[in-house]
Amino acid sequence: MAEFDLVVRGGTVVTAGGTTRCDVGVKDGRIAALGEGLKDGARVVEADGLLVLPGGVDPHCHIEEPQPDGSIHEETFRTASVSAFAGGTTSVCCFNPQFKGGGILEIFRANRERAAQGMIDHSFHQTIADPSDRVMEEELPQVIAEGVGSLKAFLTYDTLHLPDGDFLRVLAAARKHGLMVHVHCENYDAILWRTRKLLEAGKTGPAYHAVSRPPVVEQEATHRAIALAELIDQPIQIFHVSCREAAEEIAAAQARGVKVTGETCAQYVTLTAKDMDRPGEDGFEGAKFMCSPSPRDAAQHGHIWEMIRRGVLDVVSSDHCGFSYGGTRGKAKNGRGASFDQIPNGIPGLAARLPVFFSEGVSKGRISLEQFVAISATNPARILGLDGRKGSIAVGADADLALWDPQKRVTLTNALMQHAIDYTPFEGIEVTGWPVATIARGGVVMRDGKVTAEPGTGRWLPRRPGAVARPTGRLPDGFDGAPAGVA
Ligand code: URP
Ligand code: ZN
Ligand code: ZN
Repeated sequence: MAEFDLVVRGGTVVTAGGTTRCDVGVKDGRIAALGEGLKDGARVVEADGLLVLPGGVDPHCHIEEPQPDGSIHEETFRTASVSAFAGGTTSVCCFNPQFKGGGILEIFRANRERAAQGMIDHSFHQTIADPSDRVMEEELPQVIAEGVGSLKAFLTYDTLHLPDGDFLRVLAAARKHGLMVHVHCENYDAILWRTRKLLEAGKTGPAYHAVSRPPVVEQEATHRAIALAELIDQPIQIFHVSCREAAEEIAAAQARGVKVTGETCAQYVTLTAKDMDRPGEDGFEGAKFMCSPSPRDAAQHGHIWEMIRRGVLDVVSSDHCGFSYGGTRGKAKNGRGASFDQIPNGIPGLAARLPVFFSEGVSKGRISLEQFVAISATNPARILGLDGRKGSIAVGADADLALWDPQKRVTLTNALMQHAIDYTPFEGIEVTGWPVATIARGGVVMRDGKVTAEPGTGRWLPRRPGAVARPTGRLPDGFDGAPAGVA
């Protein structure tokens, strides 16, 4: 009998710590050996001339997520799995939503069932939109016991935003349970006020989305989120940082020892607010690029890269949140003449994330190969509490690999994304570097764009964040109003 179920032979293996030419031996879905000249396995995949990267870990995806209006995202766990594998990603962390006045347990159970129909390994962040006693004291502990290892707080959106008191309650609950908190930072009231003024002035098109929420709106909320986290010594991660102003708040806090990290997304190094001004046939095309925070400008792309290089932003996600452009379920659910505040926010990017960051980052010389692996797989896995299992190529880890042709030039099209959405905001972008095969827990699930995984094979990833979510032990004045681990 062969020693290995699979051997990936002759590739250049890249981890966040270094690059080496060696074979990868896989047994029972895990990496069993790394070395030159491994004995043959039951299956051999030749990787000569290819990079062997850890399968991507996308820590921020909205997939088949129930919406406050009772609808559900078009992208299902099955379709998203195909898209993820097409783009070299092998694990995702999605969201268990809460709606104001509602609970979380029932939604969590239904979400788990939906996710189990897919092929990709998955986990959830728990969104808290209404920290009632029942949810925080009765339901949240049950969800945590099943392996939800993080909380998500929104500081904007009508149906989700938390006033400061509620946000503090979420931070304190996270500290008690040892969880990471991820925060969407934009100032709700400022956006509301600007939106009202814009609509009164007849400025209703998609392009005004960016005007309703300039960088200072993101900066203010980022500053506030960090200050409140610092007040009770709770580690946080700022989601989808789009601009220098917000990233500088993170950098300043890091410099004074606050445990805060920042995530950014492919849209913030490729798209601009001008994309939302594309007219299309009926003045609606800009909706294809509408997400929050808004895409900024080319100068901001440079600032984001600088912040990635400095390690201030140490994770890249897709914030995959697809709404089709055509039809009546997606961007046009309120009509093609809807004002910008009535158009669903979010864009699809699950398959584009790794090629965009590889091409714009590694191929263009902005970051090293190792930095690319760190921000797209190793760091997200560590922050999710999945290190050791996901996000690296090491003996004992799940055999999740992306075999990458660093020279392959591809023009991004919607067909290549293989998602359920009818467009990609990255259409026409040329990338150098492309995944030619994806391996998930030792099985080849994508080869030359053809995805072959069986529905129902995606596994639940229970999470227990460790050191990353541990308080620093420093409080501004020594008063601990929310002691860790204490009810
Ligand atoms: O516009 C966005 N980003 N939509 C997805 C939901 C969120 O804010 O993360
Ligand atoms: Zn968000
Ligand atoms: Zn999101």
